[in-house]
Amino acid sequence: MTEGGQFLTLGIETSCDETSVAILDGETDVLVNLVYSQAELHAQYGGVVPEVASRDHVRKLPYLVREAIETSKVSLKDLSLIAATRGPGLVGPLLVGLSHGKGMAFGLEVPFLGVNHLEGHVFAHRLSAPDDEPPFLALIVSGGHTSLIDVSAYGEYHLVGQTVDDAAGEALDKIGKMIGIGYPAGAEIDRLAGEGNPEAIPFPRPMADSPGFDFSFAGLKTAVLYHLRKHPRERPEDIAASVLASVVGILTKKSIEATRRYHRKRLVVVGGVAANSHLRRELVEAGEERGIGVSFPPLSLCTDNAAMIAAVGAFRHRQLGESHPLSLAPDPSLGIGVQNTETAA
Ligand code: KG4
Ligand code: ZN
Repeated sequence: MTEGGQFLTLGIETSCDETSVAILDGETDVLVNLVYSQAELHAQYGGVVPEVASRDHVRKLPYLVREAIETSKVSLKDLSLIAATRGPGLVGPLLVGLSHGKGMAFGLEVPFLGVNHLEGHVFAHRLSAPDDEPPFLALIVSGGHTSLIDVSAYGEYHLVGQTVDDAAGEALDKIGKMIGIGYPAGAEIDRLAGEGNPEAIPFPRPMADSPGFDFSFAGLKTAVLYHLRKHPRERPEDIAASVLASVVGILTKKSIEATRRYHRKRLVVVGGVAANSHLRRELVEAGEERGIGVSFPPLSLCTDNAAMIAAVGAFRHRQLGESHPLSLAPDPSLGIGVQNTETAA
């Protein structure tokens, strides 16, 4: 049972295909973090359908809010702040969570804060290792993002690089579809790759040797398509292993180089693709060779969840004095360099 006088934040995340509600006590104590994935719903279409996602968020969100309140034994009137994802993400899904959050803030007469989803991913590290303060480099790698961010302090970010086309997980999901794996395909590609030869097919490593830290994965997808046209009987295990050799090679090279360039000693890896066993192994090995510690917050905090959104909200409200007016609009293409220079209302 929680006592009066605590600072309780209710967080809402609906930027893509996870509906999530969390309640945080203070800035790092997660009382409840409920995540409902729509993946099964979208599997029949082979990817996320925004309209379908929006409708399902509308259907599920109120029940998750109620369940979060009941599970944490918190009373609605004890909530101090409502934080909801403002962007980046799909505009319809964002509108659902943002509007719900604003309605709660209005009804409960508490402050409201719209959160940058990318900053949320960075805060997965604060939740899993509260005493491990920045600076560090963060690699956010999921179905929706592939970004490298220099975190000099919480709230102070420099966008080091990002994908110029597909996110790494998105490319894996599309390649999975080509070899008959259902959506999302990343985990199955990971498993298959363990039984394949990573040197079987020399797939390209787009932008791996280009200057700067941007990524590109669309070309790899096309390379797999052309290869399959020529070699329709290629073993899926070898495709998976060779594709991962490319993706993991690119991610490892760029992230370790960026960490060195920014004179950081630590790299934090978050997002669904951070679950990849091959990526974990290569990053840890490459880090050890260069004196860089690589950490992976637990997967429950790495993939989209509302605890990380509540964590940003609590931090920004308490330490930076921020809140937003209820007129705040979603921003589907919100960048991470933007929010820290923005003056909140
Ligand atoms: O963070 P997440 O749950 O959702 C968003 O994209 O926002 O990430 C999902 C992505 C999917 O593309 C999925 O295929 C990928 O993470 N993924 C993996 C693995 N597990 C999930 N990719 C590679 N290896 C895995 N073991
Ligand atoms: Zn995400």
